Amino acid sequence: MPDSGQSKPVTRAVPTPITDAALLQAGELLRGGDLVAFPTETVYGLGADATNANAVARIFEAKGRPHFNPLIVHVPGLEAAAHLGIFSQRARDLAQAFWPGPLTLVVERAPGAPIAELASAGLSTLALRAPAHPAAQALLKAAGRPLAAPSANRSGRITATTAQHVAEDLADRVAMILDAGPTVHGLESTILDATGDDIVLLRPGAIPMEAIEASLGLRLLRAGDMSARPASPGQLESHYAPSAKMRLNAREVRPGEALLAFGDRTPQTTGPVANLSPSGDLVEAAANLFAYLRRLDQSGAATIAVMPIPEKGLGEAINDRLRRAAAPRP
Ligand code: TXA
Ligand code: MG
Repeated sequence: MPDSGQSKPVTRAVPTPITDAALLQAGELLRGGDLVAFPTETVYGLGADATNANAVARIFEAKGRPHFNPLIVHVPGLEAAAHLGIFSQRARDLAQAFWPGPLTLVVERAPGAPIAELASAGLSTLALRAPAHPAAQALLKAAGRPLAAPSANRSGRITATTAQHVAEDLADRVAMILDAGPTVHGLESTILDATGDDIVLLRPGAIPMEAIEASLGLRLLRAGDMSARPASPGQLESHYAPSAKMRLNAREVRPGEALLAFGDRTPQTTGPVANLSPSGDLVEAAANLFAYLRRLDQSGAATIAVMPIPEKGLGEAINDRLRRAAAPRP
């Protein structure tokens, strides 16, 4: 039974110099759902096709993170970004001033944007960035897809700024590691929330806030000032939570409940059902999690019964998300 939740380690990837042939191969691997580590001007990224939920799930598996957090989606520039997110005039000005470069802009997801929900951990917003590194730009072109990429290190390890660091952490978990030597900044991108009228600094990074303030001609709010904006509750924490109640570790379905199933031994029900993975594959389950939660929530059921998910591999992150969704809310 395919129930490991670990993708088979192929071989150990060795750092590969950037050549046309290497880029072509990397683009093919990405389009096929594989992971490719690549240099940006800030740090190395662990890239996957952002439109492929299974590929995005493999990022979390490779990093070994016990929870899902939203990822930055890399694009060639503003034109590509504007198909994915809704840019206010101020967000456009920022992109024009600092892209390509180490600035990430959080904007509302555009209706119909083909980015996997797992990439944004179910949030209604997307974090978009156009990297300046020529290898990253060439890879985006070769892949022809937006690339979700967190820093290319395992969870809890130091952020990787050389291909060798990446190999030490992830060689058995990625299809390819593109090597362009040490990164320039060695510090991650600056992240701004550009969803509202005020621009809010979510993470200090490679572009100093003074430079951003000078360009905007006004002051940035700090994430700590967010209480000044009650309409926009602590964005980093407020992941998608269904309005239905959640009943975890359900082994039977009660009247009026929707069922979030896992595996092939699902209880009988006449209500709405979504099966995260009939074959019991945790990567597939992670890929489907947010979209299926949303679907069942929209069915109007008062409660979503959730079958037990094994607490191993990606199951840990899936259960973390489910427990949060099940926690009592004000
Ligand atoms: O320089 C960088 O930004 C590197 C390179 C690879 O581009 N990437 C990077 O990714 O640092 P990561 O996954 O380590 O950090 C992503 C950060 C997280 O703190 C996450 O919470 C935030 O971006 N983030 C992503 N999507 C978000 C969203 N929709 N709203 C708010 N924050 C978001
Ligand atoms: Mg990181």
